[in-house]
Amino acid sequence: MSATILTQPAEQDALIVTLNRKGYMLSKPEKYIQAFIDFSPHAPGPVLDIGAAYGVATIPALAKGAYVIANDLHEGHLQILKSKVPPSLIDHLELKSGKMPDEIDFEENSLGAVLTSRIFTFILPEEFEVSVEKIFKWLKPGGKLFYLGGSPYMGTFRKFLPTYQKRKAEGHRWPGFIEDIPSCTPERACDLPHSMHLLDEEVLSRSLLRAGFVIETMGFNSALKEHPEDMKLDGREQIGAIACKP
Ligand SMILES: C[S@@+](CC[C@H](N)C(=O)[O-])C[C@H]1O[C@@H](n2cnc3c(N)ncnc32)[C@H](O)[C@@H]1O
Repeated sequence: MSATILTQPAEQDALIVTLNRKGYMLSKPEKYIQAFIDFSPHAPGPVLDIGAAYGVATIPALAKGAYVIANDLHEGHLQILKSKVPPSLIDHLELKSGKMPDEIDFEENSLGAVLTSRIFTFILPEEFEVSVEKIFKWLKPGGKLFYLGGSPYMGTFRKFLPTYQKRKAEGHRWPGFIEDIPSCTPERACDLPHSMHLLDEEVLSRSLLRAGFVIETMGFNSALKEHPEDMKLDGREQIGAIACKP
């Protein structure tokens, strides 16, 4: 799979890579991804990286000593990830291709941690709720979910903001669901799927609490400095959470 570097070679410590209509992969962990990496070797079981892409979280977690199951919809992404793993760590890596939530499954109480970094933006609201419930079931007590995703305040979707705000005022259940990405952001549409789901604190906490999680931390997070300018808005571009299965 080809990857396009969006930033300039001079900034090579901070790149964002496009992924064939599946958005962009960060090349360096941001804080919720780093929290998953740091927790992974201490997790009460193997850890799962959903939508792992080329391994921004999986590879550092392996390096810290964790046993990591890397999932992605695209087998090709997982093969690139595998090719980047040092031979000494490969026996701690398991690849599991398939679409979340319907094509992958694990035993109840079998996982120590789960990362969903910027992947639930790509599934439908109903699938999101099912996914959170499944993850809760898969985790062992004491296991944690690390969530990172786009918020309605991503600069990319600034044309959608008034719709989001109107829906919010009307009490819409899923105010951040964008049905038609090409009309919202024509200049970025070629890198994105046709619809996307942006979460705010209310929607994310409602789904986590409904599944049974205890929320340890949650908040908006700014775009990284390496994000292109059009993706930035006001410092609330991303939302993250860490939630524990009691
Ligand atoms: C935007 S990238 C995020 C990559 C990385 N986790 C990060 O935070 O930079 C989304 C990745 O999730 C994968 N993906 C998208 N929808 C998925 C789904 N329903 N199930 C599993 N993987 C999915 C894509 O193929 C892509 O590799």
